[in-house]
Amino acid sequence: MRRGKGLRVFSGRAHPQLARDICAHMGIPLGEVTIEDFPDREINLKVECDVRGADVFVVQPTCPPVHDNLFELLSFIDCLRRASAENITAVIPYFGYARKDRKDEGRVPINAKLVANLITVAGATRVLAIDLHAAQIQGFFDIPVDHLFARPVLMEKVRELGADNPVIVSPDVGGTKLARAYAKELKAELAIVDKRRISGDRTVVENIVGQVEGRDVVLVDDMISTAGSITDAARIAKEKGAKKVYIVATHGVLCGNAVQRLDDCPAEVILLSDTIPHDDAKPVRLVEASVAPLLARAIDRIHRSESVSSLFEGGARDAADR
Ligand code: R5P
Repeated sequence: MRRGKGLRVFSGRAHPQLARDICAHMGIPLGEVTIEDFPDREINLKVECDVRGADVFVVQPTCPPVHDNLFELLSFIDCLRRASAENITAVIPYFGYARKDRKDEGRVPINAKLVANLITVAGATRVLAIDLHAAQIQGFFDIPVDHLFARPVLMEKVRELGADNPVIVSPDVGGTKLARAYAKELKAELAIVDKRRISGDRTVVENIVGQVEGRDVVLVDDMISTAGSITDAARIAKEKGAKKVYIVATHGVLCGNAVQRLDDCPAEVILLSDTIPHDDAKPVRLVEASVAPLLARAIDRIHRSESVSSLFEGGARDAADR
């Protein structure tokens, strides 16, 4: 890749390994910055190199601890704007609060829109994100958003894992579009778990619409948070006669009892991308697929003012349909 004169990539503290991997793919050094906490845990941040007129990218997923990571991103953007960077792209591999994207009852906030406003007001000129929970979140920003899909990266790994004549299963009706996109590219059949909500915080799964008996099942979702949905789906797939179950998701938020649930569920493999770091507690059968090369290519193209959607040539329309 070309080393742009004014190109700089920085990282907050949310996921420095991903930023280092991106820079390694691009053949550039990671920008120097000092980030510390004051005794009261306010953030003290200083960029240690000249960024005047530069095309700057800040890598920071807003994963847990969500508010620390989000504020650090805002502070970083503010710093770069005041240091006269020409362009500031917030590289947000995982965009937190994405599930709060509508006012579906009275007297509730739309936090996804609030976060978009904060990032814009801080001074970002562009956002680069992966698998936003809902594609329309792009419209919450009045700055350009480049929206990437982890699907090609994850599908390559699924093929490597050797799933035999798989059927792609969505853990709920809401995930059907994503599952269909996987099914189309893998030329596989599609099935959907029939999840029923019985109270505000309880759901039951009793059935699968589609054929899984004697087949390898690839369960796909955009994120695993508490892992309730996906492990229930894995269990019902096994009960209905699935041979092997593979769990695939872009964002492994893994909060609450998620790791224990994943360890206890009957899946062979838990395949996650590295949009969120999994350094501490992680599932025993975790396989990671890195989005670093994808982000490196996207950053390079943005810097050169080249098309980003062409990274998904062939599958681009399906991706946009999701
Ligand atoms: C829901 O709309 C998402 O796509 C995921 O299915 C959901 O967030 C997973 O949550 P959990 O892991 O807590 O069941």
